[in-house]
Amino acid sequence: MMSQEMNDQITRVGPGAPAGAVLRHYWQPAALSDELMGARPVVPVTLLGEELVLFRDEGGTLGLIGRHCPHRGADLAYGRLEDNGLRCPFHGWHFDCSGQCVEQPGEPEGSRMHENIRAVSYPVREMNGIIWAYMGPGDPPQFADFDCFRAPESHVFAFKGLWECNWLQAMEVGIDPAHASFLHRFLQDEDPADSYGKQFRDSAGNTQIPMTKLLRDYPRPDITVDETDYGLKLTALRHLDDGRTHVRVTNQIFPQAICIPMSREMTITQWHVPVDDETCYWYSMFTSFGAPVDKAKMRDQRLEEHRLPDYAPLKNARNNYGYDAEEQGKLTYTGMGLDINVHDQWAVESMGRIQDRRFEHLGKTDVGIVKYRRMLRAAIAAVEAGDASGLKMQNGGTEAIRGPLSNDAIAPDDNWVAASEAADLERRGQCSWDASV
Ligand code: FES
Ligand SMILES: [Fe+2]
Repeated sequence: MMSQEMNDQITRVGPGAPAGAVLRHYWQPAALSDELMGARPVVPVTLLGEELVLFRDEGGTLGLIGRHCPHRGADLAYGRLEDNGLRCPFHGWHFDCSGQCVEQPGEPEGSRMHENIRAVSYPVREMNGIIWAYMGPGDPPQFADFDCFRAPESHVFAFKGLWECNWLQAMEVGIDPAHASFLHRFLQDEDPADSYGKQFRDSAGNTQIPMTKLLRDYPRPDITVDETDYGLKLTALRHLDDGRTHVRVTNQIFPQAICIPMSREMTITQWHVPVDDETCYWYSMFTSFGAPVDKAKMRDQRLEEHRLPDYAPLKNARNNYGYDAEEQGKLTYTGMGLDINVHDQWAVESMGRIQDRRFEHLGKTDVGIVKYRRMLRAAIAAVEAGDASGLKMQNGGTEAIRGPLSNDAIAPDDNWVAASEAADLERRGQCSWDASV
């Protein structure tokens, strides 16, 4: 049983909070590139409980600085984007992309006061549709060579969505391979040919069995969890009646991402990013090993379910997630429609803003969650002791971290490790970009 103190320790993220200190050692998704595509590329960003503003100046340089003007606190998200920086509309103080105040037009001529004024600012980097921020101490770590970063921009589509709960319970649904047989159960199977851009709608491995049927018919997976240099590798085995084994490999990427198969063509790498203790965004990078991603189609599919500018889902607690008792009887396990994102959203939001883990009872299938929390607590202890060098992907060498293998495969016999690796290598071998591992 978990104490309140430990639950607070592993969930809270504001400045000075233990889990927040661990997350600050890693690049965090701050915004989608899409959000800066308008005529005025300025967007407010709340990240790890800190209020910031992200902008792109006329020269294309990105800046991520504190949202409240260092003069008297007005909101720089309403700033004038001009002169290669952001100018506060209150008294005209002007800040460059690094947060340095470069002009105070109302102060006496010749005043050098601005030289000592600096807004909070963080390094940013744009990669494959996401703008990343580093809010931690020292130099930012290198990015690992994951598929979602190595693939060309044409083969990666990024999107995000708001969930009204703590980041940890959002992440934990992604390292729980058992729930797919229940939460995402469809009582009828769709034609896998209509599966583009959707999760669990393809056929399983190299079979004609729809994933929906396989998950429904085999609800008791054998789950093993192995620690890796990037986090955890989760293997879920479903032993079919005909002697074959379905192998599904998913991953936890420390500290707060998962990498899972979406279809035979694509994987999803998804970060669960705290806005504050009680709200988070999922940021997904859909990476194709086959054809370039049809971004317009995938964006339209998802914009039908989300409102802008905050990417809040249209189905939510205020409208009971679209719950329909008749549908629950006939078509889906949840009665909340066919979009599996809504199912996950209901599961994690309905726990309460911060799940009260004092009252949970973990079973055998929760092994991924147990191992992850152990890893997180060890990282918290290391950071508190002042030595983060042992944390995953903090000490260079990240260019050697590739993949990770993330797929569904069918093994004809009990040699499922070989079958899973062979399916992965086959896909990588046929890929138009360098997906070698
Ligand atoms: S509050 Fe921003 S310039 Fe005065
Ligand atoms: Fe799920």
